[in-house]
Amino acid sequence: MDWGMKNRLSQLIQADGRCFFLPIDHGYFQGPTSCLEKPGETIAPLLPYCDALFVTRGVLRAAVDPSASKPIILRVSGGTSVIGRDLANESITTSIEEVIRLNASAVGISIFVGSDYERESLTNLSDLVNECEDFGIPVMAVTAVGKELEKRDARYLALSSRIAAELGARVVKTYWCKDFDKVVCGCPVPVVMAGGPKCETELEVMEFVYDGMQKGAVGINLGRNVWQNPYPVAMIRALRSIIHENYTAKEAWELFNSLKREK
Ligand code: 5RP
Repeated sequence: MDWGMKNRLSQLIQADGRCFFLPIDHGYFQGPTSCLEKPGETIAPLLPYCDALFVTRGVLRAAVDPSASKPIILRVSGGTSVIGRDLANESITTSIEEVIRLNASAVGISIFVGSDYERESLTNLSDLVNECEDFGIPVMAVTAVGKELEKRDARYLALSSRIAAELGARVVKTYWCKDFDKVVCGCPVPVVMAGGPKCETELEVMEFVYDGMQKGAVGINLGRNVWQNPYPVAMIRALRSIIHENYTAKEAWELFNSLKREK
């Protein structure tokens, strides 16, 4: 692996081999998502506790201070919306020149295995890998399920994650699921967990994150369960304790409750 690629990956995956990415890319197909209407205000208190931001170029330019930022994973796929015909029908939205101009540490793209646009999304991924590898920029593949949240099982996610790695993704972002070890074991590159819609309780979030880390994930890319929580700073700090300080789910939940009271 070349120096540039290694250097960018080390900006994302920390010296302990773990990472906490904060995604704020939801607007690219959901519009002004609840609690993310003003992304700059949402992320200001959270930035000290994450390792990288996952964001589109538009929100990056409009809402992220270039002089005091975190490493950036640029969301470079899109072209669909929640009210459109099919979320899977994405294209690559951002040129390699723009990725370099914005000094991104990595790029992220969704793939939709099993959808009507499976082939297009997979060739988008391989085209992006071909371009980014020339410049030492890692590609993170997002195993998206569109509106079909029930697809989040080990068999489907293992299939999608492995295909993403085979096509050259340097990191795979997928959902946590029961038997998550089957997903990680079949994927030869680091696996990061997404959160999905907000869970009923904070303990539920801590438990799935802890379980996924025990089963081999290198970290999380968790958005709504952080910034849609009424106590987002307590939430991000508690989750960080699982990722970087080896807290158990219960210890992290206790930390959340004590930080919540400090507010
Ligand atoms: C949206 C994404 C998000 O980055 C991903 O889903 C993680 O966010 P959340 O934890 O809110 O699900 O890729 O397309």
